[in-house]
Amino acid sequence: MTKKISVTTLKHMKSAAEKIACLTSYDASFACLQDGAGVDVLLVGDSLGMVLHGDETTLNVTMTDMIYHTRLVSKVCQRAFVISDMPYKSYTSATLALENAKRLVSEGNADMVKMEGGAEISAAVSLITQEGIPVCGHLGLMPQSIHELGGYRVQAKTQEEAEKLKQDAISLQESGADCLVLECVPAKVAAEVSDVLDIPVIGIGAGVDCDGQVLVVYDMLGITKKEFKFSKNFLIGQESIANALKDYVAAVKDKTFPGATHSYE
Ligand code: KIV
Repeated sequence: MTKKISVTTLKHMKSAAEKIACLTSYDASFACLQDGAGVDVLLVGDSLGMVLHGDETTLNVTMTDMIYHTRLVSKVCQRAFVISDMPYKSYTSATLALENAKRLVSEGNADMVKMEGGAEISAAVSLITQEGIPVCGHLGLMPQSIHELGGYRVQAKTQEEAEKLKQDAISLQESGADCLVLECVPAKVAAEVSDVLDIPVIGIGAGVDCDGQVLVVYDMLGITKKEFKFSKNFLIGQESIANALKDYVAAVKDKTFPGATHSYE
């Protein structure tokens, strides 16, 4: 029988320097293929608002959407660890955050919940983790703050911003977070944060030195119309989606993805 990946497994992978292969997932058919291909972590991302619903942002995604898609994914996972995104405005206070995190676990069967933000969400992270629900932070480009950020662009480019990101990452870890996603930050900054933290750091557009990598599954299969610098179409040259997924896992594990062309300076 296949052993299910846990928070402890992910921490061991970091200490053993084994890269964590993560992809987004939104339904049972894809989740089954991804699980079988050896993807370690499936992220039910609120990116579903963009890639499934066709919206310009993730801001219209609801708790009902997240619970529904998380349940579809977690139902079929025998090995992969399932992270579910807390949607926009679902964690505006620590008590609301706890209530919604509990729903993602009890109704969606999530193994961990993910929240965007730094020190400002530390009270919510502490409360949720004290209740035994593992939390993944998300820093760098935070799509739920798209209007504050003024567009989808690389973050933490100045020394001051990089230092703030590092302090936010430390604050999340100290509040009890067991994992961190870093999106679209210079590779050097991500490498430093991964080095400083004990918890695994999973990057997207954050260079090869993170402890793991995540991509939106529709991007890495060339389904998304737009091409992103940080992504790669793994279906090219493959005969099946299953092979493309296996190729992605192998490329993350042997550090051939992401290359310098997929990373930011
Ligand atoms: O929502 C999502 O898919 C994400 C990833 C891009 C990291 O947060």
